Amino acid sequence: MSQTATSARVVSEKGPSKVPDSQWFTEGRLGMFVHWGLYALPARHEWVMTREKRQVEDYEKYLNYFNPDLYDPREWARTAKAAGMKYVVLTTKHHDGFALWDTKMSNYSVMRTPYGKDLVAMYVEALQAEGLRVGFYHSLIDWHHPEFPIDWHHPESERGNIVGRNGKRDMAKYREYLHAQVTELLTNYGKVDYLFFDFSYPWKGPNGLRGKGRKDWGSEELLTTVRRLQPGILVNDRLDIPGDVVTPEQYQPTKPMEVDGQPVLWEACQTLNGSWGYDRDNHDYKSADLLVRMLVDGVANNGNLLLNVGPTGRGNFDPIATRLLGEFGAWFKLHGRSIVGCGHAQFPAPRDVRYTQRGKCLYVHIFAWPFGYLHLPGLAGKVEYAQLLNDASELHLRQLDPDVPALTTDMKGDSRDTLTVKLPIRKPEVAVPVIEIFLKE
Ligand code: GLC
Repeated sequence: MSQTATSARVVSEKGPSKVPDSQWFTEGRLGMFVHWGLYALPARHEWVMTREKRQVEDYEKYLNYFNPDLYDPREWARTAKAAGMKYVVLTTKHHDGFALWDTKMSNYSVMRTPYGKDLVAMYVEALQAEGLRVGFYHSLIDWHHPEFPIDWHHPESERGNIVGRNGKRDMAKYREYLHAQVTELLTNYGKVDYLFFDFSYPWKGPNGLRGKGRKDWGSEELLTTVRRLQPGILVNDRLDIPGDVVTPEQYQPTKPMEVDGQPVLWEACQTLNGSWGYDRDNHDYKSADLLVRMLVDGVANNGNLLLNVGPTGRGNFDPIATRLLGEFGAWFKLHGRSIVGCGHAQFPAPRDVRYTQRGKCLYVHIFAWPFGYLHLPGLAGKVEYAQLLNDASELHLRQLDPDVPALTTDMKGDSRDTLTVKLPIRKPEVAVPVIEIFLKE
């Protein structure tokens, strides 16, 4: 049996009846992350405030210039769909504290910019219209809020007299604000399918300042509120208490993920160029081929991919992101069948190959195109039919006898259980070629 992650345990301390619906998540396998906020204007990483030790008053000037005249969330949604994505996760607030919605809890929001319209409302509407699932990212951290104590990630961490200045800050007041904003988001925008909190760091930093974790955020209470307001919502694992989805960031796990020996839902979040927010001069882009391999690699290990785009300050996707997503989508259009509803396969894959499986269909993703033949251990006698997925062209199958000696022009078999697939010399012109195998009962 293929072990799709629907059978994986949701990492939750609640009883089974409280386990949220994760079917759409493991079926879809692929989502779009969108990091967008004031930091799109400086255009040099979403952490610009801390990286450049910017003071609140100075950073706030971007409020006056945030006017994304090209913001068209329907276009975002269509781009996501064309790339094969089934859900989108938007930063409602990042660490800089700027709210993309019409929050009543502060005036540090899009309503105070020249744009002056609720970006989150438009986003949700567009996703629903395009049939995509709705995800919110929400930063636990807030470098703008006057009650948020200065810690080692804070832009003010090097300004001296921290103990004195923290004496005037009250985490309890910030916690109330955090809960109130999350409540707004989960009350005013209809059904929300996924909430991605970010992030906890409950240890001491290099300068001895304490980070923040479950007690600071009031995580238990916050999670209870979230589940009460949105029954069935999936919540990630960054509240410093167990969540529903484990979220490795900027790396690919090498096998299906487990917590305490139990399989878990997981989703790798990945960037196009190493930054999450729009980062104009960062050209460290992954190729579309690599992005496809990352998706495949994740699904082969029962995981999802949340692939990020950082829109510009005008509200559109920059040309490189658009091109990469287009190339990625071109692969998906032909090969989505090897991703959607698929998970870890029952057979161990040979070198340079990743398997995914959905019931009787086994998908063989070939990362390095071999010469003439591909040898698949353990599959002899188990296959009914095989074809290249990109053009549905039949592939011949052979079982080579390991006892017959190799001749000048004849191969010897590897082992009795190995199935050999004859391949064309020319690699199909796709990022990652896929063989679709129909297994016998
Ligand atoms: C990190 C970063 C952040 C990004 C996020 C995405 O924790 O702080 O900038 O939003 O990961 O997972």
